[in-house]
Amino acid sequence: MSSAQRREYLAALGIDTWVLRGKTPAPGAREAEAPLEAPAFEVPAFEVPAFEVPALKEGREAGVDWTELESRVAGCTRCALCKTRTQTVFGVGNPHAQWLIVGEAPGAEEDRQGEPFVGRAGQLLNSMLRAIGLARDEVYIANVLKCRPPNNRDPLASEAGECLPYLEQQIALIKPKIMLAVGRIASQNLLRTEVTLGRLRRQVHRFGLSQVPLVVTYHPAYLLRTPADKRKAWEDLKFAREVCARV
Ligand code: URA
Repeated sequence: MSSAQRREYLAALGIDTWVLRGKTPAPGAREAEAPLEAPAFEVPAFEVPAFEVPALKEGREAGVDWTELESRVAGCTRCALCKTRTQTVFGVGNPHAQWLIVGEAPGAEEDRQGEPFVGRAGQLLNSMLRAIGLARDEVYIANVLKCRPPNNRDPLASEAGECLPYLEQQIALIKPKIMLAVGRIASQNLLRTEVTLGRLRRQVHRFGLSQVPLVVTYHPAYLLRTPADKRKAWEDLKFAREVCARV
C-alpha cells in the first residue's frame, strides 16, 4: 500500500499523520515524511501470555465441513436467542484467512442482513483493517454470538458458552494465524476473564482448544463514541500485525 493510501485510511480512522513541513517538493520529487508509525511502540515478548486461556470443554468435531456447520448454526436452538432472532449471523470473509476478527454479537442491522459488522461500526472496522493493509474480504469476520440479543443487551455467559463451540469449529476450518478480538465483551468472553480491556491489550493471549494467538483491541462502536482512543486502537492493530508476522 502506498503511503498516500495509508494516510487516507488513517485519516478515515481519525488518526493524524504527519508530513514534514518545508518546501513544496519539486514536481516528481518524493515527499519527505515523518514516520507514520509514531509513537514508538514496543512489542512485548510473544511467548508469555499474561492470562491463561482455559480450553473449552467441547468444540472441534472431526469431519464438520462449512456447509454442515452453516446449516447447524442456521438451525441452532441451543439458547433462547433462537426465539427472537430474524436469522443467524454465521460469519463472512475468506475461509482461508490468516486473520479472524471476532466481535460481540449481531446488532439490529446484522440480524436483518445476516452478515456481521455491516452498520457504522462495520465501516469503521473496514477502515481499521485497511489501515494495516487488509481488505474486508481478505479476513474472516465472526462474532462470539451468532444471534442478536434482544435490545442489544450484553451476551449472557450461558449464551456464549453454547455458541463458542461454533467459533471453535470455524477456527478448525479456517486455521487463522491470528485472532483479533474487538471490544471488551468479545475479549472477556473469548478469554473467559473479567479483566478489563485496558489490561488485556498489548498481550498475546491464546484462544481455547485451538490455542490461536489472540490480540484484543477496542470495539469500533466504542471508537465512534470515543475517537480519542483511536490512537490506542491503531497501536493495537500494529501490534497484532507484528504478532501475525512472527507466527
Ligand atoms: N458489533 C459486533 O460486535 N458485531 C457485529 O456484527 C456488529 C456490531
